[in-house]
Amino acid sequence: MLYTVGPVHVEPDTLQSMTKPMITHRSKEYKELHGNIVEKIRKVLNTDMDVFLVGGSATIMLEAGIRNGAASKTLGITNGSFGNRSIELGELNGKTVEKVQVPWGEAMKPEHIAGKVGKDTEMVHWVSNESSTGVFSDSVALAKEVRAQNPDALIQVDAVTSAFAMDIKVKDMDADSIVFGTQKALALPPGLAIMLCSERLLEKAKTVSNRGFYTDLLKIKKQSDVNYALTTPPVSLMYGLDYQLDRILKEGVSNRYDRHQQMADLVRNWADEKLAGVFPEQGYRSNSIGVLNRGDLDFDAFHSKLKSKGYEISNGYGDVKEKTFRIGHMGDTTPAGIKQLLSAMDEIMEE
Ligand SMILES: Cc1ncc(COP(=O)(O)O)c(C=O)c1O
Repeated sequence: MLYTVGPVHVEPDTLQSMTKPMITHRSKEYKELHGNIVEKIRKVLNTDMDVFLVGGSATIMLEAGIRNGAASKTLGITNGSFGNRSIELGELNGKTVEKVQVPWGEAMKPEHIAGKVGKDTEMVHWVSNESSTGVFSDSVALAKEVRAQNPDALIQVDAVTSAFAMDIKVKDMDADSIVFGTQKALALPPGLAIMLCSERLLEKAKTVSNRGFYTDLLKIKKQSDVNYALTTPPVSLMYGLDYQLDRILKEGVSNRYDRHQQMADLVRNWADEKLAGVFPEQGYRSNSIGVLNRGDLDFDAFHSKLKSKGYEISNGYGDVKEKTFRIGHMGDTTPAGIKQLLSAMDEIMEE
C-alpha cells in the first residue's frame, strides 16, 4: 500500500473505471465526458473559473501560466523545492523573476512580501502546500496582500498537493491560475494536468507573445469552450477522473477535508510521541503530507523493513532530504489505514 506523496494509492474500482473501450477525442461521447468533468470540478471546488484539462503532468500548466501571464517580470515566493521550481520555470521561459525566499519549514505570510509587489510585477506565484516541507501557507491572505499592493498583478498558485485534500478556498483566493494534477489527492494515476483559469489571465495572454502551442491558453480556451482538449487527451484517465469526482461528491467535500485532517493528526501525534516531531511550523501544517523529523532514525533501513511489511512511504526532499521523511495521507487513504501503517512502524521501532 502506498503512503507516498504522489503518485498515491489508487483504489481497484477506480483502476477498473479506466478500462472502458476507447473513444476518439472528437466524438460526441468525448464532449460529454469532458463537459461532465469540468462541471464536477467546478462543483467540488466551488468555482465558475475556466477548467482546462491538458495531457501531461501538473508542471505543464504551471509553465503555461507563467508563459501566458507575464511578458517580462514576475515575483516568485518560495519556501521549498517546488517554490524554487516555479521560479526556475519563469526564468527558463525568459522572465525576470524577483524572489522572496522564506526559510524552509516556515509558511509564506503577507509580511514576507510587504513592499515587494511592484507596479511592473505582472504575476506573483507560489506553492499552496510545499511538498518538500509539509507547509500549507494561507494563499487567501497572500493573494489579498498582492492585490493590495498591485491590483493588476496576476496570481498563480500551485495547488498540486492541496487541491481536493484541504479547502483552498478558490473563491476567496480569487487567483488567476490554480494548478494541480491527477496523481495526488484525486487518487488517480499521473498524466493529466488541470488548471483553473481566470478571465484576467486570458485577457493578459492576448498581449503576451511566445505562448507556445501546447501551452497557449488562448488555444486551449477555444477548444475547452466546446468541451474539447487542444491535443489528444488521456481519455482512459479521464474516465477515472469522472469516476473519482463522483466518489468525492458522494463522500461530501467537507467530509473529505475532515478525513484528511484526521489522518494528519494521527501522523503528527505519532511523530511527537515516537520520534522527533514534525518539520513544519505549527499552525501551517499540511493535511495531505506529513514531513517528520528523522531524529536518529536510520530511514533507509527503516523503510526497507516497512516495505517488507507491504507499506511504502517517501524519502525527504530537497534541502531537508537527510533530516526528514514524508508520509502521504491524501486521496482515498483512511484514518484506519493510517493506524495500520503507524502500528507497522511501531513494530519496526520496537525491533
Ligand atoms: C507542490 C508540487 N508542485 C509541483 C509538482 C510537480 O508536479 P508534476 O510532477 O505533476 O508535474 C509536485 C510534484 O510532486 C508538487 O508536489
